[in-house]
Amino acid sequence: MIANKMMDIEKIDKSRIDQVEWDNLGFGKVFADHMVVVEYHNGQWETPKVRPYGPMHFSPAISALHYGQAIFEGLKAFKNDDGEVFVFRPEKNAIRFNKSAERMCMPPLPDGLFVDSIRQLVEMDHEWIPKGEGESLYIRPHMFAIDEYVGVRPSESYLFVIFTCPVNRYYTGEVKVKIEPKYTRAAKGGTGHAKAAGNYGAALWPTKTAQDDGYNAILWTDAQTHEYLEESGTMNVIFRSGNKIFTPELSDSILDGVTRDSVLQLAKDWGFEVEERKISVFELIDLLREGKLDEAFGAGTAATIAPIRTILYQGVEYHLTDTTTWPFTNKISPYFDRLKRGVEADSHQWNFRIL
Ligand code: COI
Repeated sequence: MIANKMMDIEKIDKSRIDQVEWDNLGFGKVFADHMVVVEYHNGQWETPKVRPYGPMHFSPAISALHYGQAIFEGLKAFKNDDGEVFVFRPEKNAIRFNKSAERMCMPPLPDGLFVDSIRQLVEMDHEWIPKGEGESLYIRPHMFAIDEYVGVRPSESYLFVIFTCPVNRYYTGEVKVKIEPKYTRAAKGGTGHAKAAGNYGAALWPTKTAQDDGYNAILWTDAQTHEYLEESGTMNVIFRSGNKIFTPELSDSILDGVTRDSVLQLAKDWGFEVEERKISVFELIDLLREGKLDEAFGAGTAATIAPIRTILYQGVEYHLTDTTTWPFTNKISPYFDRLKRGVEADSHQWNFRIL
C-alpha cells in the first residue's frame, strides 16, 4: 500500500473544470486536472508523484517511440447521486498490466502501486466524474520505455503514468462491423493478448479502410486461416443464440477483457449456457442466414456493451433484428450502469470504493 505521505503531490493552482463542455464529452479529448507519474531507474520504482496534467518532456530518441515498448490499461470510475465513487475491478487490470509488461520485457509494478495510484488520482479529481447515463471518468494507466538509446534492446528506464478523462461511451448507437478476411490484428505467439500499444497501431490501416466504407470496426479473424473470429476493434465480441451466450475462447491473440469476463459471469448467474470456444465465420454466417443469431455485441471498458446490428462478410451485409428488442443486451447494459454506480447488489465484489 502506498500511504499518501509516500506520494509526492503537487496540486494545480486553478482547476480547468469550469472550461469543460459537459454536454459534448465524447471520448478521450478532455483531461482532468492531475496525473500520476512514477519513474523506474536502476532496477527500482521511485516515489510516485502526482502532478498537474500536462505535456511531458522527452528526448526524441526514447525507445518507446522507435520500438514500441509501451503498454496501457483502461478502467472507469463512476459516481452515484449520493456522491459515492467506485472503480470497477481495478485488481484485474493490475494483473493484466503486469502480464502485458512481462510480454513486452518491461518491469512489473510492485503490489499495490497500480490500484493505490488510481485511488489517489480519482480521489483528488473526483469532481471530474460525470454522472449522466453512459458517462464516467476513464482512467488510462500506461508504461513506456524512456532510455535515450537507438539500439534495439529492452529499455532500462520507464515511466508509469496515469491520467483520467471524463467520457461518454466510445460507440454511440448500434455498431456495424466488417469481418476481416485479409489483414490481421494479432498472430499466434505475438502480443495480441497483451495491451501493447503496437497492437492498436497495426490495426489502424484496415480499420480506417472499413470505416471509409461505413463500418465502425473490424471483426478480426485468426491470422493463419481467417476462419475463426477473434475480437472486434476496441472490444471483445459476444453472441447470443437462444439460451446460449458464446464468445471466442481466449488465446495469445485475444485480449482477456474485464467486461468480457464480467458479462460471462453474469450470463451464468442468470441461467444462460456460456460457451468460450472457437467460432468460425461460417458458423456465424449460417446463424445469420437462418435468423438464429439473436444478439451480437462488443464488450469493453471504453465500449461498455455495444450492440452490433450489421455484419459485413465478403461484400454481403447481414442484419440482426431491431436491437431494442434484444433481451440480454437490454438487461445487462443498464444492470452494469447500476452495478458500477453502487446501486445494484455487488454479489461478486467487483466494485472498489474510492469515496
Ligand atoms: C478500453 O476499453 O479501455 C480500451 O482500452 C479500448 C481503447 C483502445 C479505447
